[in-house]
Amino acid sequence: MTELHATPLVSVNRLCKTYGGEGGLFGSRTVALKAVNNVSFDIAAGETLGLVGESGSGKSTTGRVLLQLEAPTSGDILFRNKNITGLSKTMLKPYRRDMQIIFQDPYASLNPRMTVGEFVAEPLDVHGLAGARSERQDRVASLFKKVGLDPSFMKRYPHEFSGGQRQRVNIARAIALNPAFIVADEPITALDVSIQAQIVNLFQDLQDELGLTYLFIAHDLSMIRYLCHRVAVMLRGRIVEIGPCEAIFENPQHPYTKALLSAIPVPDPDIERNRRPIAFDVNANLPPEEASLRAVGDRHFVLGG
Ligand SMILES: Nc1ncnc2c1ncn2[C@@H]1O[C@H](COP(=O)(O)OP(=O)(O)OP(=O)(O)O)[C@@H](O)[C@H]1O
Ligand SMILES: [Mg+2]
Repeated sequence: MTELHATPLVSVNRLCKTYGGEGGLFGSRTVALKAVNNVSFDIAAGETLGLVGESGSGKSTTGRVLLQLEAPTSGDILFRNKNITGLSKTMLKPYRRDMQIIFQDPYASLNPRMTVGEFVAEPLDVHGLAGARSERQDRVASLFKKVGLDPSFMKRYPHEFSGGQRQRVNIARAIALNPAFIVADEPITALDVSIQAQIVNLFQDLQDELGLTYLFIAHDLSMIRYLCHRVAVMLRGRIVEIGPCEAIFENPQHPYTKALLSAIPVPDPDIERNRRPIAFDVNANLPPEEASLRAVGDRHFVLGG
C-alpha cells in the first residue's frame, strides 16, 4: 500500500443531512430523518477509508453530500484544507475534476446508446481537455489500458460487456480527469464473487500508480480488510466506530461492529462450523443523541459514554 501523508486530503466536520420534516404535500408534516447525523472524519492523501454498515445507515448519503451532489443540512466539507461547503456551481467546477464517484450498478451508470470510448472521453470534452482528435483517442486508449481493457473495445456498446468489464469502463471514466479522490459506492456489490477480487485489485493498483484517495463504501467487511487502511462503521446515520483496519478487525469495541464481524463467513470449514453470528438489536441499542466518539486506542474511536 502507498505511503500515507499526514495532511488530510478530505475532511468532514459535524456533517448532517436530514430528509423530510418540513411541511410536505398538502401541508402534511413528515418526520425528519437524520440520514447522516453529526459525522466527522478525515481521509489522508493516498489513504482508503472504508465505510460500512447496514442498508439505510447513511453511507451513500455521506458520499453524495461529501461530493456536494447534495447540500448538507449542516456541517462542513474541506478539500485540501479549503472549506468547499455551499460553493456555487462555478466555484465548485475545479473541485469536480478532483473528486469522482463510482456507483454500484455498472450498467445503470453507462449510457446504452454511447460507445464506451465516447463515454470515457465525455468528461475530457466537458472540461475542454480532449485536445485534437488523435490525442483524444490516445488518451482514451491509455485509460482503457490502465483499467485492463483492450483499447479495441472503445467502439463497442455497454451491452457487449460483462459486469466486471462495465465497472472497468466506469473506473476509466472516473480517472479520466486525474482526480485525487474517488468515492466508490459499493462498486463490487453487483458483480459476481469471482470478479469482485479483480476489481478490488484494480482499485489498489490504481491507488499505487496514481496516488488516489478513496472513500470505499461497502455493505460487508470481507473485502474491506484487504483494501482499506481505516474503517468507519455507520449505524443509523452515526459513526459508531472508526479506526485502523487491524484495530477494527482484531479489537472491535462497539457491539454493532462485533455483530458485523461475526457475520463474515470464514473460509476454514472447522472455524466456520463453530462460527456463531452475534445478534445486534438496533432499536434496543440506538446510540444516544448526546454520545460522542472517545479514543480507545491509536486513532481508534468508539461512540458511547
Ligand atoms: N433523497 C432522499 N429522500 C429521502 N430519504 C432519503 C433520500 N436518500 C436517502 N434517504 C434515506 O436516508 C437513509 C440513508 O440512506 P442511504 O442511501 O444513505 O443508506 P445506505 O447506507 O447507503 O444504504 P444501502 O446500503 O442500502 O445503500 C435511508 O433511510 C434512506 O431511506
Ligand atoms: Mg448506499
